[in-house]
Amino acid sequence: MDAFVAIASKRDTRTYGDDPIPPEVATRILEAGRVSGNAMNRQERRFVVLEAAREPAAAGVTRPGNLRGATFAVVVVTGAGSFAEFDAGRVAQSMMLAAWNEGVASCPNAIADHSIFGELLDLGDDERIAIVISFGYPVSRSDVEARSADDWLAAADRKPLSSVVQVV
Ligand SMILES: Cc1cc2nc3c(=O)[nH]c(=O)nc-3n(C[C@H](O)[C@H](O)[C@H](O)COP(=O)(O)O)c2cc1C
Repeated sequence: MDAFVAIASKRDTRTYGDDPIPPEVATRILEAGRVSGNAMNRQERRFVVLEAAREPAAAGVTRPGNLRGATFAVVVVTGAGSFAEFDAGRVAQSMMLAAWNEGVASCPNAIADHSIFGELLDLGDDERIAIVISFGYPVSRSDVEARSADDWLAAADRKPLSSVVQVV
C-alpha cells in the first residue's frame, strides 16, 4: 500500500473478524515498533504480546471488548524518561500503520486500571504502560487503495488543515 494512502485511510477499528494474524504479520508489526525512532536512541521500551494474559488485561482497559475481540494485542511499555510518551506514540502509530499495510485494523486502548497491568507484567519501578493496542482483520475487508489519498483525507473526521496549521 502507498504510504500516504495508508496514513490517510487509517481509522481506529474496535471490532474484528475471526481470521488469525499470521506470525509473519505479527512479526512485522513488532518490528515496526522496534525500529521506530526515539529520544537519544535509548530504546527504553518493551512490547508485551498478550496471549494468556489477554483476558485479565481486558479488565484493565477502558473498553474491554476491544481487547477481547482482537486477534492480536500488544502492550507498549516505556521507561519514565521525559520523551517516553512521545516515543511511545511513534511506536504505536508505526505498529498500527505496519498492520494497516497488511490489511490489519487496530485501535489504541487507554488504561483504566494500572494496578492490573502492574501485576500482570511485573513492571519495573521505572516502567509505565503507554498504551495497549488491539489488532485484527476488519470484519469486512475492502480495497483501501480503490480510493485516493485525497478522498480518504476528505472523508476523515478531523479539523480542516487551515485550522491546525499556522505559518509564523
Ligand atoms: C492515547 C489514545 C488513547 C485511546 N484510547 C482509546 C480507548 O481506550 N478506547 C477506544 O476505543 N479508543 C481509544 N482511542 C482511539 C480514539 O478514540 C481514536 O483515535 C479517535 O476516536 C479517532 O478515531 P478514527 O481514527 O477512527 O477517526 C485512543 C486513542 C489514543 C490516541
